Amino acid sequence: MKNILVIYYSQTGQLKQIIESVLSEIKESVVIDYREIIPQNPFPFPWTSDVFFDAMPESVQQISEPIEPLDIPNKNYDLVILGYQPWFLSPSIPINSFLQSEQAQCLKNKNILTIIGARNMWLNAQEKIKYSLINLNAKLVGNIVLCDNNPNLISVLTVMRWTFKGQKEKSTFLPDAGVQSIDITNASRFGNPILKSIESNQFQNLQTNLLKLNAVDLKPDLVILEKRGIKNFRKFSNFILKKGERGNPQRLPRVKLFKRLLIIGVFILSPISNLTARFQAILNNKTIFQKVEYFKNISYHENEI
Ligand SMILES: Cc1cc2nc3c(=O)[nH]c(=O)nc-3n(C[C@H](O)[C@H](O)[C@H](O)COP(=O)(O)O)c2cc1C
Repeated sequence: MKNILVIYYSQTGQLKQIIESVLSEIKESVVIDYREIIPQNPFPFPWTSDVFFDAMPESVQQISEPIEPLDIPNKNYDLVILGYQPWFLSPSIPINSFLQSEQAQCLKNKNILTIIGARNMWLNAQEKIKYSLINLNAKLVGNIVLCDNNPNLISVLTVMRWTFKGQKEKSTFLPDAGVQSIDITNASRFGNPILKSIESNQFQNLQTNLLKLNAVDLKPDLVILEKRGIKNFRKFSNFILKKGERGNPQRLPRVKLFKRLLIIGVFILSPISNLTARFQAILNNKTIFQKVEYFKNISYHENEI
């Protein structure tokens, strides 16, 4: 039988559910080993607001933290699935910590399929992951992205209720938080093309086959919004890091300033920002269309975002 290794981090279990659904229809036909990334200093859930916003600089600047040993079996894996989530438009601290650790050497010369479970902004994170995989001599062969497909502001509100109160279930005025459960269930459709590639050891058409099944749904205005967002996060992360590492009380005033500005940005400026992004997408239709195609695919060019 063919072998799949799944390396993932999931704080609430959502991403684990997504991966299990993707593999549900092929799990009898392959051997699957799951390995969970566990940070030595686990992140709280639900989060307090200070700890949450204090994780921005280390996420954006990809500063790693210690993780537990993964105990990866010494097998010749046909495919490695890397399941991760974006934090502050960047790879989450746990996944980044794994990729920078000695243990990530197990990815060398392996075919990698990334599976992302996000709110809706994952482009910069995936660019960083692509770059890390190239440096590890690993080959990205596919990418599946599941997002919350509610309107942007609704998903911000529900993700805040989930993150700070732990409530994923719908409330009086808001829907469930996170990726819609029907989308998680339907992710089982990706199993077949994955199995075909593994059995034939032909991965060059995997992403095309996954895209035919709508593995990545990307709205053009999100490309513009994310580009604006990550630019500001990069500047602010450096500003906060000048006052110390994550958890250092000295940087708390800067973290709180970031939090206030982000809230103003999201709730007050965002309707204007959304509108200008939509206009920009219409005006630069051809360029944006090319960008969308690029981000749906798995090749890597520097500075795309
Ligand atoms: C600290 C933090 C930052 C996040 N930032 C983003 C983000 O920039 N873009 C996004 O689409 N989702 C973001 N999310 C949502 C996560 O990507 C993810 O969908 C959610 O946390 C559930 O993942 P889990 O499987 O780890 O529980 C963030 C979540 C957390 C906890």
